[in-house]
Amino acid sequence: TIYPVIMAGGSGTRLWPLSRRKTPKQYHGIVTDSSMLVNTLARVSGNGTGISVADPIIICGAEHRDLVLDQCKQADISLNALIIEPVGRNTAPAAALAAMVVREIDPDGLILLLPADHHVSDPEGFWRWVETAQPIAADGFITTFGIKPTHPETGYGYIKTGETIGDMAYRIDRFAEKPDLATAQAYLDDGSYYWNAGIFLFSATAILEEFDTIAADISNSCHSALKGGGRDGKVYTLCPDTFANCRSESVDYAIMEETRRGAIVGPVEIGWNDIGAWSAVREILAEAGSDATVTVGNVIEIDTRSSYVRSDGPLVSVIGLENVVVVATDDAVLVARADRAQDVKRVVEALKAGK
Ligand code: GDD
Ligand code: MG
Repeated sequence: TIYPVIMAGGSGTRLWPLSRRKTPKQYHGIVTDSSMLVNTLARVSGNGTGISVADPIIICGAEHRDLVLDQCKQADISLNALIIEPVGRNTAPAAALAAMVVREIDPDGLILLLPADHHVSDPEGFWRWVETAQPIAADGFITTFGIKPTHPETGYGYIKTGETIGDMAYRIDRFAEKPDLATAQAYLDDGSYYWNAGIFLFSATAILEEFDTIAADISNSCHSALKGGGRDGKVYTLCPDTFANCRSESVDYAIMEETRRGAIVGPVEIGWNDIGAWSAVREILAEAGSDATVTVGNVIEIDTRSSYVRSDGPLVSVIGLENVVVVATDDAVLVARADRAQDVKRVVEALKAGK
């Protein structure tokens, strides 16, 4: 049985001012009316493949507990478990905690670990790839999903394929998380690297063995935090002090760069998009290659091209501009050149610094 585990703890600072500390991006409707979390839940619930899939598990921060329960209730989704982190410690502890909870429920369980903030336009295709990965993961491989790179993106993990171990499945020869631009360009030119989609399939036992071997401090902290925490029905809480002392690290750095049990399936073509910045939102919503301006909400646009204009607040009008992003909420307005959309996180840094 596959247990989908959705990581919903990120802050999505590049999607400010919609994405805020109280309600980060995954809890908003950005590409559709329903939130990215609800879309992810819907994607993992239905599958036409005959794979046995359990109700999903969500792992999120304490400040978003009610939001998650609310959105699940409204979308009529029942959870297997909800794991609440008192503080964020990145995705490695999240993965370890989920694996401990699943192993408890089902020692042979496989975990489909997914981000809450991705767009997938072909959910059936997605499940066919999960079907491809299932026997590999059941064999004890920590399995990733490889996307064919289109540009030297520095925010992703790069995977070099090794020995063939199945149909469209390979051992990982090398995993390099977030390379610098020159290295990313070299990987792109090399042609034998995939992007890591950030989606994983592995058995709870295999990943915990890897934690115990290469990141034992993290699995020890998580084990103690769970033991010192509580359980109220499906909701698991952690001992705050123990978890606060856990190393903060992503699963990519802590496990994937180190493990010798990595595998990859691909090329995965499912209309995958990591909705990281506003420029990506326009690209998803506009027809491929078109220079249309996408408007959302209270907006009047005149003679504007290749732009994204959204207002959840006051009426916004834009005239005669090109390649801009404008996002307005009740209390904040962002105006940026589309090719600078990655720098929106600097606004949030400035806000945090008290500007
Ligand atoms: N529960 C929980 N707790 N979730 C978290 C935490 C945490 O402390 N930190 C991040 N998340 C969630 C985010 O909300 C997101 O859905 C997912 O985990 C991945 O975290 P990101 O911070 O978005 O990772 P990334 O985009 O920099 O990199 C990952 O994804 C890329 C593809 O989008 C890596 O796996 C890369 O290798 C990959 O290419
Ligand atoms: Mg991400």
